[in-house]
Amino acid sequence: SRMPSLAACYNLMDFEAVARRVMKKTAWAYYSSGADDEITMRENHAAFHKIWFRPRILVDVENIDMTTTMLGTKCSIPFYVTATALGKLGHPEGEVVLTKAAHAHNVVQMIPTLASCSFDEIVDAKQGDQVQWLQLYVNKDREITRKIVEHAEKRGCKGLFITVDAPQLGRREKDMRSKFSDAGSNVQSGGDNIDRSQGAARAISSFIDPALSWKDIPWFKSITKMPIVLKGVQCVEDVLRAVEAGCDGVVLSNHGGRQLETARSGIEVLAEVMPALRERGWEKRIEVYVDGGVRRATDILKALCLGAKGVGIGRPFLFAMSAYGLEGVDRAMQLLKDEMEMNMRLIGATRVEDLNPSLLDTRGLLNG
Ligand code: FNR
Repeated sequence: SRMPSLAACYNLMDFEAVARRVMKKTAWAYYSSGADDEITMRENHAAFHKIWFRPRILVDVENIDMTTTMLGTKCSIPFYVTATALGKLGHPEGEVVLTKAAHAHNVVQMIPTLASCSFDEIVDAKQGDQVQWLQLYVNKDREITRKIVEHAEKRGCKGLFITVDAPQLGRREKDMRSKFSDAGSNVQSGGDNIDRSQGAARAISSFIDPALSWKDIPWFKSITKMPIVLKGVQCVEDVLRAVEAGCDGVVLSNHGGRQLETARSGIEVLAEVMPALRERGWEKRIEVYVDGGVRRATDILKALCLGAKGVGIGRPFLFAMSAYGLEGVDRAMQLLKDEMEMNMRLIGATRVEDLNPSLLDTRGLLNG
């Protein structure tokens, strides 16, 4: 069976289907897996289908402007490339492929702590005034973490995303079964006594500090001027606490369904978070992001209508990169832009500022 041509990929799911056929088994297992029975992973995308549009007609939609800002950075479209570890499992050049595509489309890239390329390689691949953020796994040795954060700020990173949903790595059985042996990685923080029998994820994550707590947030604020965003917040109480702790943002995320099984989808949590923020007049005090299962521009639009500042997208770009390299990621991003322009027209919104809850019917979510 011949590999389908790139032009035959018409949406983000198509890249996944090709990647599944052409990727090495261990790499596919690591990228595609979710925790346990993968219920949360499936629900992440399915939850978007519980929300319907209430489009407005007879709006002049000739000119569509989908630009926005995230953490003060102007972006061409309200999504960013979220952090995903071990880019070289899918492509020999690893994360810098994503850096190049992000530059071509003027979107932000979040650099993972557990990248295959070194942090400096990924920053060196940056062009012009391209913006990157750092995703941080907090080391038990805080001096290592301090050095990582200070170095990232010095190298121009514009946001610090502290992952808070992974005190222990989830149980991804596909990955465990595939007997990962070489992540092709440059991962520094794992130490030498790596137990590879538990899959790629567990092999590289033993340094992560399960004792990380709210008490550490002031310390992060004291060591960096980068905006601080908690990645992996999953309920309204913790969003309110993040505001009180002086965080600049949260990502409502369950780590792509790779951590706590039967955690709710980010979009569902968003529907509960925004009213609580508005009730307190706090919606301008914190930027709220969502990731997990975003595959269509309609998904992005639903998150923005509910009040998200932007969404993160993970696996689709990994699959596009693994199947077709830079050209694949470039096409995936272009498809999203084309979908976005059309769907903004069809719902009667010409600018991101026009997106609001009245454009949605959310009665299928929560209790309405
Ligand atoms: C991730 N994710 C992740 N998150 C994080 O904070 N640090 C990390 O190292 C990784 N690594 C990682 C690897 C792979 C292969 C995947 C698929 C995901 C989670 C990621 O940032 C994001 O939350 C999800 O990927 C979003 O869901 P989708 O877009 O993949 O459905």
